[in-house]
Amino acid sequence: MNKITIAIDGFSSTGKSTLAKQLAKQLKYVYVDTGAMYRAVTLYAMEMGYIGNGNFDIEGLINDLDKIQLKFVFNPDLGFAEMYLNDKNVEREIRTLDVSNYVSQVAEIKEVRSRLVSLQQDMGKNKGVVMDGRDIGTVVFPEAELKVFMTASPEKRAVRRYKELLDRGENVKYEDILENVQKRDYIDSHRENSPLKKAEDAIEFDNSDLGLVQQFERIYEHALRVIEKS
Ligand code: DC
Repeated sequence: MNKITIAIDGFSSTGKSTLAKQLAKQLKYVYVDTGAMYRAVTLYAMEMGYIGNGNFDIEGLINDLDKIQLKFVFNPDLGFAEMYLNDKNVEREIRTLDVSNYVSQVAEIKEVRSRLVSLQQDMGKNKGVVMDGRDIGTVVFPEAELKVFMTASPEKRAVRRYKELLDRGENVKYEDILENVQKRDYIDSHRENSPLKKAEDAIEFDNSDLGLVQQFERIYEHALRVIEKS
């Protein structure tokens, strides 16, 4: 059977990664979480002191881009790959609210985007990949055979994120999460470089009122039809 490229874009906390991981597992494709890459660059900038305490040294970060090594390492116990920043597993650190609060600003930097986009294009060059992010169907793989654009109300998304962070033991307030979700939506869709927008040929998928199993079944069946035709 032919392998295709599946691009999953959409707002934050719409369940893109859950869906993408399931699809990749079922199809035996590689899953790439591009948000994790932007998050890891943000973590690097925070650790180096380029970001934080009112500081935002864009030049410092750009000059260091060559020193930032990102890779995904498959964890068989979890069934998916984890993000490594300069050979350190940072899967946990990159999901904190602190990183979430800065990541949209880092993702606006043109030099950061072009570096990460070329890494992503390299990771998906042999097809057989499910990649999720904001610009996969529009910039990274405009020729992807299947594009899904996911949406859900900000409140539903904030509740999901809130539960996720509580489960991980973070001490967070729902109002702060909602504010973060809304702020990121705004920055992600209004930035100059590769703003979040639905590709013309993407299927729009609002999952505010759908359970995980229903979501997966709908997209998986659609993917099988696209694979058959390709
Ligand atoms: O999917 P996520 O919430 O982990 O993404 C984190 C941030 O990275 C998000 O605010 C937007 C940015 N991002 C992006 O600009 N382009 C991508 N392809 C993926 C993420």
